[in-house]
Amino acid sequence: MIVLGIETSCDDTSAAIFDGKNLLANVISTQLIHRNFGGIVPELASRAHIQLILPVIRQTIDQAHLSLQNIEGIAVTRGPGLAGSLLVGLSVAKGLSFSLQIPFIGINHLEGHIWANRLHHESLDPPFITLIVSGGHTQLVHVTRWGKYKVIGRTRDDAAGEAFDKVGKLLGLGYPGGPAIENHAKTGNDKYVVFPRAYLKKGSFDFSFSGLKTSVLNHVHAIGPEKKEQHLCDIARCFQDAVVDVLVEKTIRAAQKCQVDIVCLAGGVAVNKALQQRMKQKCSESGISVLWPPPMLCTDNGGMIACAGHDYLTRNISSPLSLSPLPSENL
Ligand code: KG4
Ligand code: ZN
Repeated sequence: MIVLGIETSCDDTSAAIFDGKNLLANVISTQLIHRNFGGIVPELASRAHIQLILPVIRQTIDQAHLSLQNIEGIAVTRGPGLAGSLLVGLSVAKGLSFSLQIPFIGINHLEGHIWANRLHHESLDPPFITLIVSGGHTQLVHVTRWGKYKVIGRTRDDAAGEAFDKVGKLLGLGYPGGPAIENHAKTGNDKYVVFPRAYLKKGSFDFSFSGLKTSVLNHVHAIGPEKKEQHLCDIARCFQDAVVDVLVEKTIRAAQKCQVDIVCLAGGVAVNKALQQRMKQKCSESGISVLWPPPMLCTDNGGMIACAGHDYLTRNISSPLSLSPLPSENL
């Protein structure tokens, strides 16, 4: 079945085509306007989605060397995300579904991130643990079978990506902070300062990054602007190490507790090479395999939505045209 996937939950306008085996096209237009504001402005995001969505879909279909009439089903992100942004993707999906007389399915964005690993590793099958680390979410999910998800840990305050973005802003590295911090951290001294790691109550799989963020803020204020510039790479390195330590330790403990031997990384922060390498090293010491998708499938993209949707649509599960966006939906 040829499925068109549409993703507009945040600041990426994306469409993709998946035929059950191959991703024939995956076009992502990241809205740059938000960089002027140091973060995402919801109203601007919805307006940009309105302008971008049809050209992005057209480009996707062209790249796949198909025509609209070849599409047999549509998958679209229904939540969680920004209400106005979700509404744009959902409305287009419903319009296409109605006019082409083909089924559509609303997909949970976090479930999409989990399926992104399947797109790249065709033989991946549950059970496994997925660490979803993005700008809006940090969750440890036990996938017992496809479609069956148990969230065993989540952040109590900032998401990991949000912490990267806030610390990036604080260090004057612009938005988004993640890639810039990773770059600076490469030449940073890991012994410069020890920032706190929040492991919370013994045995907890929840995360907390707001204390770490405040600690970086206090440090930057204490040393003053000149020293901050001088130690930018060191601060970036010590901050990144603190985030990575907690993510790796909790993920491995979760895999051991759930008795699974596969760990998957998903979401924008999964692009981070320090996280990938540390996770790989620690997992191999514990006999656990670790997978992550290429960068284009880690960050928000229509491909992961098309892939998740293909699974539902081929089992004849679809959504009614009355489906509304679900901005606060959980897994
Ligand atoms: O999954 P995503 O594209 O969007 C959400 O669903 O939020 O993730 C975006 C997040 C941003 O917070 C960004 O700073 C972070 O992923 N990110 C990174 C890296 N690349 C993107 N964080 C750390 N290291 C990176 N290389
Ligand atoms: Zn996402």
